[in-house]
Amino acid sequence: MMTRPAINETTTASPNDADERARAVEAQLTDDERFSLVLSILGHTPGSATGGRDPRIPEDLTNMSAGYTPGIPRLGIPAIQSSDASMGITNPGYRPDDEGATAFPALIAMGSSFDPQLVRQVGEAIGREARMRGFNVQLAGGCNLARDPRNGRNFEYFSEDPLLSAVLAAAQVNGIQSQGVVSTLKHYTLNCNETNRHWLDAVIDPDAHRESDLLTFQIAIERSQPGSIMSGYNKINGEYAGGNDHLLNEVLKGAWGYKGYVMSDWGATPEWDFALKGLDQESGAQADTLLWGKEPFTDELRTAYAKGDLPKERLADMVRRILRALFAVGADRWGPAPEVDMAEHNRLALECARRGIVLLENDDVLPLPTERPLKIAVIGGYAQQGIISGTGSGAVAPVGGFAGVIKIGGAGVMGKHRNLFLFPPSPLDELKKAFPKAQFDFDPGYTPAEAALTAKRCDVVIAFAIRVEGEGFDSADLSLPWGQDSVIDAVADANPNTIVVLETGNPVSMPWRNKVKAILQAWYPGQAGAQAIAEVLSGKVNPSGRLPVTFPESLAQHPRPDLPGLGTPWGTPVTIEYNEGAEIGYRWYAKTGAEPMYPFGHGLSYTAFDYRDLHVDGGDTITATFTVTNVGDRAGADVPQLYLTDVAGEARRRLLGFERVELQPGESRELSLTADPRLLARFDGGTGRWHIVAGSSKVAVGTSADELVLEAAVPLSGRHFGP
Ligand code: BGC
Repeated sequence: MMTRPAINETTTASPNDADERARAVEAQLTDDERFSLVLSILGHTPGSATGGRDPRIPEDLTNMSAGYTPGIPRLGIPAIQSSDASMGITNPGYRPDDEGATAFPALIAMGSSFDPQLVRQVGEAIGREARMRGFNVQLAGGCNLARDPRNGRNFEYFSEDPLLSAVLAAAQVNGIQSQGVVSTLKHYTLNCNETNRHWLDAVIDPDAHRESDLLTFQIAIERSQPGSIMSGYNKINGEYAGGNDHLLNEVLKGAWGYKGYVMSDWGATPEWDFALKGLDQESGAQADTLLWGKEPFTDELRTAYAKGDLPKERLADMVRRILRALFAVGADRWGPAPEVDMAEHNRLALECARRGIVLLENDDVLPLPTERPLKIAVIGGYAQQGIISGTGSGAVAPVGGFAGVIKIGGAGVMGKHRNLFLFPPSPLDELKKAFPKAQFDFDPGYTPAEAALTAKRCDVVIAFAIRVEGEGFDSADLSLPWGQDSVIDAVADANPNTIVVLETGNPVSMPWRNKVKAILQAWYPGQAGAQAIAEVLSGKVNPSGRLPVTFPESLAQHPRPDLPGLGTPWGTPVTIEYNEGAEIGYRWYAKTGAEPMYPFGHGLSYTAFDYRDLHVDGGDTITATFTVTNVGDRAGADVPQLYLTDVAGEARRRLLGFERVELQPGESRELSLTADPRLLARFDGGTGRWHIVAGSSKVAVGTSADELVLEAAVPLSGRHFGP
């Protein structure tokens, strides 16, 4: 049975006076209590450095968590208990009694939905499932930019674009915090590769950083006021993210006026003086012992305080920020846990999967007819067992358990967490439901020759291809593992009606691309993913996902064809120069003129859309109005995108706005999109302000970053503004 959180009726203040209350409560604390609040330990036994139960975890605490900080009951401060939450409440391993959480699609699939309303609902559901377990802080909100298609954690991030990532991350945070649960945005910042992440120095031009990864956090913070920000493992321009005075004190808390607290990542606090540089809480402290041989916010911080090296006011500030985050969302005033309708959450997971699937190619083969007695070959990808997920701290154990867990393993501390997790139900079973008249033949894709035999005797082939990606690992290249490319190649040779379904966390190379009739990018679509895939293939659902990342033709087009440090042993210092600066993904392709395999924003539909009547207003910013019409013969959703293409004669591609619209056949909708002025500007580190150059700019409305349909020139007033 799950334990319900204690109901705390001792405080009644409204969230609006969170600052005042934090100030008043902090003033009543003893120094011991202050020090206990700035430390969070792994709240589950197996992670403790000594192997046994950490004596600081109370014996009667059953709701084990990723992070635990004792409460202070005399002042109404609840214990702080956190869990990971990007794709649902995580629990594998340390909650044997947990009945399972809703496993939502990966964030990159939610990114493909371009649908902030939906992502907010997912946040609300995650908040409810956190409440029922007593978790009051969620380590959600992954909004690093997908700079590199080899990054093992891109599935935990929304996109390569600052605006899209910020809008969606904020929607998730708002949903979670609406349930009285603090949410985090992470990993601040430039944690864009996993290779030797604890020793990785991410080097970037500081102004370009403000225009990209930092702008993502800035917009997301403005839109959602997250209670906490998690710093990354890596260094940025030579300083660890958690001890980066410039990024934490000057930018986040200074220029942006952020009022919440900064927690470290787990095992990312090597020194006590990170407290002076802006870090407010050490997290997963036993992991610091494992990595650095000490918990700096335990004894060293107290010693520094006793010697006067840590000012009293700074300690008070750290504590006030933590308290404020709890008070602002009402985490200290929980009533009974809300009713949780798991069937409804499953429906939400299904809707997310439907909207996140991207139809990359369709040579007149999809949707497959449901009324004909087709012979369908289903090949590979464990499609007879389940849908795969990403691995690492974000992995969710679903209600009823996994359909299978296959250990993969690997180097470093994350090696033992690298598993192929399979969610039931299986795609094969869902396809049988969607095509009741069809006859199915399954082949595991064990060898190309064997798979080809099955493909040959069927009318159509659905080949599932999987790639397990996850925390702690970057992929060495973009290929599919386990010889799956050869299997697809062989079945496509044997049967021209081959459809490929990709369950991956990143773009993959597709050497067989020109031989197959259709390609579906399903990402890691979560516990309802099998049903959503079957519904898209059968046409019950009209695909509407759009790529939130560019698919390169090959790594030769990428700013870093070779990834520095790849293959070096755990513990090797690595420097990655993000020389593309703010020109990430589609911006890079626009700048270099290289033609990617599939552009950002791309996604096909079973209907067609038309754009007309573009009207653009300039001045301080840009507002574009245009009309979108469903000119096909079925209902469907479109995601028209507004791009900046030129500023005063300088080519510059920026997504300025987007909107997902559901349209019946023949239906039109007028849309109006207004740009955040920072997307029209350059950041000037010298003045700490943004600068828009006066002159004529150009914008375009398109179906992707490369397929621009309507274009217009628009005058912009020159101006400087901050922050
Ligand atoms: C990850 C974080 C996560 C934390 C707690 C770390 O390994 O980088 O994203 O929130 O663990 O599980």
